Parts: sequence; C-alpha cells; structure tokens
Amino acid sequence: MLLRSLLPAVLAMVHMAGTAFSEDLGDAEAGAKVFAKCKGCHEVGQGATDRIGPHLNGIFGRKAAAHAGYAYSKSMERAGADGLVWTAETLDAYFENPRALVSKTRMSFRGLKSAQDRSNLLAYLRDFSDNPADIPEAEPTALPTDHDIDPAILALEGDPEFGEYLASECLTCHQSDGSAEGIPSITLWPTEDFVIAMYAYKRKLRPHPVMQMMAGRLNDEEIAALAAYFKGLDQ
Ligand code: HEC
Ligand code: HEC
Repeated sequence: MLLRSLLPAVLAMVHMAGTAFSEDLGDAEAGAKVFAKCKGCHEVGQGATDRIGPHLNGIFGRKAAAHAGYAYSKSMERAGADGLVWTAETLDAYFENPRALVSKTRMSFRGLKSAQDRSNLLAYLRDFSDNPADIPEAEPTALPTDHDIDPAILALEGDPEFGEYLASECLTCHQSDGSAEGIPSITLWPTEDFVIAMYAYKRKLRPHPVMQMMAGRLNDEEIAALAAYFKGLDQ
C-alpha cells in the first residue's frame, strides 16, 4: 500500500497535527465548582481519603494507578504499567471522556464536554499537587484546547469489507475470537469507543508505542472501516 511506504512522512505529519496542545490551566476558583461533579467519589485537600475513587492530592506527575492502598481496575493498572502519567494533557483527555483513555476504567463518569470547565478543574487540582510551581500555569492569552474528535469523523460509515482487508495485520496480535491473553480483545466494541480509542493512540495520549505506531499510520477512513469490521466480528 502507498500509505505503508510513506510511513515515516505520515508519522511525522500525524505527530505535528496531533500534539498542538499547550498546557493551559484555567481559573482554580471556578474549578472548585466543577469539582462538585467529582465529590461524590473523590476527595482532595488536607485530610483527603480514598472513597469510591482514590483521593486526588498530588495527582499531577504521578503514574496512573499509583496510589498505594487503593484497588484500581485492571484497565487502569494496565495503563499505569504501560507508562500513562497524569499531566495536564492526559488528565484533560481523561476528564473529557474517561473510557477514551482507559477503556474499561471503573470510573463511571460521562465526561466533561466543556474545555473551559476542564481547564478550570485542572487549575484547581494543580493547587493540591506537591509542587504547584513546577506545573505550567495558563498563558494569559491562551484559550483551552478542545480535544473532542470532530463529529464528522465519528459519523463516518466504515466499510467492513475494507476493514477485513486491513485487519489481517491487527489479527497477528488481537485474536479474532475475542479471547485475550495479555492482549485486549477488540471485537464487538461499539464503533464510537473503538474510534475514540484509536485516536487516543494516534495522538499519543494512550501510552502503548506499538499501538501508537499502528494507529498513527491509519487515516480516518481506515479507522472507520476497522471499527465497522471488528464491531461485527464475534467469531
Ligand atoms: C462515580 C464515581 C466517580 C466520579 C463521579 C468521578 N470519579 Fe474519578 N475515579 C473513580 C474511580 C472508581 C476511579 C478508579 C478508576 C479505575 O481504577 O479504573 C477514578 C479514577 C480517577 C483518576 C485516576 C486516579 C489515579 O490515581 O490514577 C482521576 C485523576 C480521577 N478519577 C479524577 C476525577 C475527576 C476530576 C472527576 C470529576 C470531573 C471524577 N474523577 C469523577 C470514580 C469517580
Ligand atoms: C504487535 C501486536 C499488535 C498489533 C499488530 C495490533 N495491536 Fe492493538 N493492541 C496491542 C496491545 C499489546 C494492546 C494493549 C495496549 C495498551 O495496553 O494500551 C493493544 C490495544 C488495542 C486497542 C485498545 C484495547 C483496549 O481494551 O484498550 C485497540 C482498539 C487496538 N489495539 C486496535 C488495533 C487495531 C485496529 C490494529 C490493526 C490496525 C491493532 N490493534 C494491531 C497489540 C497489537
């Protein structure tokens, strides 16, 4: 395929297009109000303890699933083992759509759609990190970046036959019967989750280098085709 032979150039382009995020933090006071949505499950600040979710003191710069004494989901532990570190960028992606970053996270939260709310929340949480001064603050003129995937991409109808053709490479690792030995199953996923997960690798928000490379060389149409194929695959 033409795309394959152009791999290095394509990867470079994807890299440039995918990392245009400056770590803009918003207004901590407004963030305290946004945190009301998290309070049912998380505490932060002096004397904070684990509840349904782990306490969030010192979350910046920490690896995912690294808080001793809290029992994380397998998914979150896998993300931590792969090298997911909580930065403004990865936290922003997790708050926007938790399962896009960590597929089967036990955090049942729909996500914060407003980029402004998310950056305010980041500013609030930053105040409870060990060294807030080390974490970049908002540029006065910076606007929050919206990580939302273009709805047109999510709406693409994938062609499952094209997907089957592309999938042969994926199936050297992912089992077509959905069974997973160390490698997660990717069959029967809702299309949207599949597409979001692939973009999270493409943008290097998800940490796994092999999958970052796999996703990085696929275009929108190819990702949609793969999503359509794997969605229908149960044997
Ligand atoms: C319904 C309960 C619930 C709500 C609401 C919720 N969380 Fe969580 N959160 C969890 C659980 C449970 C986990 C552990 C997830 C896992 O192990 O997969 C978690 C994990 C996290 C983590 C990763 C912690 C780590 O140590 O790796 C962060 C960060 C986080 N939540 C922040 C938030 C923020 C900010 C909000 C509000 C916008 C929020 N959560 C809303 C339950 C919740
Ligand atoms: C060399 C082996 C390998 C190949 C080839 C491969 N993958 Fe993966 N894939 C993995 C591993 C390992 C993981 C788990 C990565 C992680 O922990 O984030 C994964 C994770 C995923 C996930 C996320 C699953 C989850 O539960 O979070 C999706 C979606 C996925 N791969 C799709 C694909 C597609 C589509 C292809 C073909 C274009 C492909 N993979 C090719 C090894 C591979």
